[in-house]
Formats: sequence, C-alpha cells, structure tokens
Amino acid sequence: MALLGILKYPDPFLKTMAKPVESVDAGVRALIGDMTETMYAARGIGLAATQVGVDKRVVVLDVPGDEERRERGKNLIALVNPEIIEASGSIKYEEGCLSVPGINADVERAARVRVRALNGEGAAIDIEAEGLFAIAIQHEIDHIDGILFIDRLSRLKRDIIKRKLKKALEAEERAL
Ligand code: NI
Repeated sequence: MALLGILKYPDPFLKTMAKPVESVDAGVRALIGDMTETMYAARGIGLAATQVGVDKRVVVLDVPGDEERRERGKNLIALVNPEIIEASGSIKYEEGCLSVPGINADVERAARVRVRALNGEGAAIDIEAEGLFAIAIQHEIDHIDGILFIDRLSRLKRDIIKRKLKKALEAEERAL
C-alpha cells in the first residue's frame, strides 16, 4: 500500500465528474487500500478517488459511531459506483474537507439516505445511513461528481471563503 497525494482546492481535477468502475479488479482493490491508508494518515473520515487524482467512482469512509472510543477500521467501508436511491429529511452540519484545509462551514444535506453500490469485493450492497454517516456519504459522492462542499454554500459565503483561500495560497507562495 502507498500514501497518495491529496489534491487541494483550487486544483481543477477536483471538478472532474468521475467515471463508473467497470469491475472491481485488483487495480481497484489496490486503489481502495491506498485511499484507506491515505485517509487515515490525513485523519479524515472519508476520501474520494478524485481527491487523489483518480478518475473513478470510488470512495472510502470510516465514520465514527456513538461509541466513546473511536476504533479505526470498525466502520470502514468502500463504495464503488455509489448511487443515492432515496433521501429524506434535512440536517445541517459544520463540514470540513481534506481538499479544502482550514475551512469549515455549515452545509445542509439530507438527514437519511439509502445508497446502492458495490463494496470493495465487488458485491452489490444496499445501505441505509443517517446522521454523520449520511452526511459523509453525500459529501464523498459530491466529490466524485466534481462538487466541493463550498460549492453548496450561498454565493456570499462561498465568495468570502474563496477570498480567504486565495490569500492563504498567496501567503504560502511567498513563504521561505
Ligand atoms: Ni472532502
């Protein structure tokens, strides 16, 4: 397994509408392994293939549940070609993203989703999610559709954040 580089906003590849996976072969399984390792190294709870520069509809998630102590790998799941087939309710949560470091903002999403996908072994799965798990699934599916959470904000909020990110980027470019 290998650590992959995570693309950061405003990398244009983050706008890629990723292509469906035709079969969960050894290459896809290796990608899932590398993405999982990269997600843990970055202390994320989800990662999409587009964030590591790969044009495939693959995401990995390890969303902590209500348990007091977080156990890495306990809720680990890979979703290949995920599709939301039912969504209901609404929930607001302060999201962040490994591709948009240093920014958090409230995003409104469906509170419950039902998702069809293939898992990391290529088996068809049908899962129901709510709370943070549902939020994370929607955030990651957005990534493989080329959408960042800041794209879901009001224009005013998005413009403020984009200016902030531009300033941070310029400061980084001047740093010694
Ligand atoms: Ni993200």
